[in-house]
Amino acid sequence: MLSIKNISKSFIQRGMVLDNLSLDVVKGDSIAIMGPSGSGKTTLMNIIGLLDKPDSGDIIFRGASIANFKEDESANYRNQNIGFVFQEHLLLPYLSISDNIFLPLLATKHSKEEISAKEQYINELMIKTGISDLRYKYPQRISGGEAQRASLVRALANSPSILLADEPTGSLDAGNADKMGELLLEMNSQYGITIILATHSSDLAKKMSKILHLEGGKLIV
Ligand SMILES: Nc1ncnc2c1ncn2[C@@H]1O[C@H](COP(=O)(O)OP(=O)(O)OP(=O)(O)O)[C@@H](O)[C@H]1O
Ligand SMILES: [Mg+2]
Repeated sequence: MLSIKNISKSFIQRGMVLDNLSLDVVKGDSIAIMGPSGSGKTTLMNIIGLLDKPDSGDIIFRGASIANFKEDESANYRNQNIGFVFQEHLLLPYLSISDNIFLPLLATKHSKEEISAKEQYINELMIKTGISDLRYKYPQRISGGEAQRASLVRALANSPSILLADEPTGSLDAGNADKMGELLLEMNSQYGITIILATHSSDLAKKMSKILHLEGGKLIV
């Protein structure tokens, strides 16, 4: 489904971060990327989500090269295929939880039927993640664990085929981290969403079907 081919990325101040790195992602995979702080996990996630460009190498998605997409093509690719969960939930403070979740849907045109199907799907996700009672609350009035679950639902609102989660449990206590891990697994098994996550938590990583270590700019099993 997604093939990262010989990607390299350097930053002037830091030098080589990703060094001729390759990764093949099969539909339905759940992949944990581990590695010390500064090893390049976020850089790699940003490149997969086309938020950043590699210096060299290619990214093949469903048979087509996407590494040199222009900004609008990248935005389309993201809207249609990628959901992001970040370490900090990044919910917008002036929008209710419900409006935060529905926001990504505004980026694409939908028919009435599609919208009602989406609403039903999002309702289901909110129930599954235990946040349906919070829909009219604002982000500063809910807990970190609840906000992180809301950001998971937001990431899934557009029915992405790939969920990129960068330290999705980084700001959560053990109980909430565990709950988030279980939810990610459920999304993977029930909805077939491919998951790529970066984490320092071996507990979370162990829930995924593959664990890769980012070391010296390369991924090692
Ligand atoms: N935009 C940038 N400009 C310059 N250097 C950068 C930039 N982004 C990342 N770096 C550097 O690249 C290296 C890798 O950073 P990255 O954020 O990918 O690491 P990470 O593995 O995600 O670390 P952490 O576990 O702390 O989140 C770091 O040394 C960082 O300082
Ligand atoms: Mg990071």
